[in-house]
Amino acid sequence: MRIILLGFGVVGQSFLKLLTHRYNEIASFYGLKPRIVAIVDRGGAAIDERGLDMEKMLEFKKTMGSISKANDKGFPDLTAEEVIKKIDAEVVIEVTPTNIISGEPGLTNIENSIKSGKHVITTNKGPLALALPALMDLAEYNGVYLRFSGTVGGGMPVLDLGKKCLIADKIIAIRGILNGTTNYILTEMIEKRIEFNEALKKAQDLGYAEKDPSLDIDGFDTACKLVIMANWIMGKKVTLKDVKINGIRNLALKDLIDADKNGNAIKLIGSINKNIEVKPREVSKRDILCVHGTLNAVTFVSEFAGEETLIGRGAGGMETASAILRDLIDIKTNLSKKF
Ligand code: HSE
Repeated sequence: MRIILLGFGVVGQSFLKLLTHRYNEIASFYGLKPRIVAIVDRGGAAIDERGLDMEKMLEFKKTMGSISKANDKGFPDLTAEEVIKKIDAEVVIEVTPTNIISGEPGLTNIENSIKSGKHVITTNKGPLALALPALMDLAEYNGVYLRFSGTVGGGMPVLDLGKKCLIADKIIAIRGILNGTTNYILTEMIEKRIEFNEALKKAQDLGYAEKDPSLDIDGFDTACKLVIMANWIMGKKVTLKDVKINGIRNLALKDLIDADKNGNAIKLIGSINKNIEVKPREVSKRDILCVHGTLNAVTFVSEFAGEETLIGRGAGGMETASAILRDLIDIKTNLSKKF
């Protein structure tokens, strides 16, 4: 299977590391032999239609800063648009950074890939939060798969649990902690008795927060994840503008201490019910959703199976890479069934 990789930051590099590590296993288990025929980063592209040497590309990125400097394989001026158009591939993996204002460059990358008949896997929440209903229609019209497991819950199969495992049931509501950074900040505030700004600084130093931390702390990251779940799992046609959003920026240590005295913790909760909403809420410390540190927890409320909660690490390069590989195996399996 030929793959174009758009974006070569933490997630893109982690995916290549995972692929090198598990190559033989996935080849023998699933008959899947991925070949990375092009990688695009901010500096340009690296191309080899027979398949780039993944370990060398990781080394180039580390030492040279951009894969476009990769000896005879590098093309400094080549853009993602040209690569999608010119290079033959079955799948495009789009892992450029999230932009919730315009969705770019991810939105155009995804549209161009779908229109050129390529299946798309993305971990980019921006384009999906702004235009998921339209992108799903576009993929269906062009007869390709659009997959995005890594956008919600990191490596946890949150979307698969809701979409596939609970297929016979009707999911009435979803609620949970969907952002690791804010959960870390709130945990640090109460455990170390520090104010918001100090806890945010620690989250940034540890690399948890998004490049623009406002995405995390003002609730947009959680809102994007709700939009994705509402569309994919519950069949609602909604975008970011349909979500009521409040973040944790204005919470003071005193608020958390007051909640603590009542046996509660303040958590940034995203919920899909009659309304779609993100806001800090007091949660009993005995509630299953009351997880700490960078953990995520998602509860599905379904008509017959009742409540089921998934808890795990909702972020991280290798965790997200494992979700990309899951999507790739899913596409390969679906394609095999067609023949
Ligand atoms: N910044 C996000 C978080 C990354 O903290 O959960 C994963 O989406």
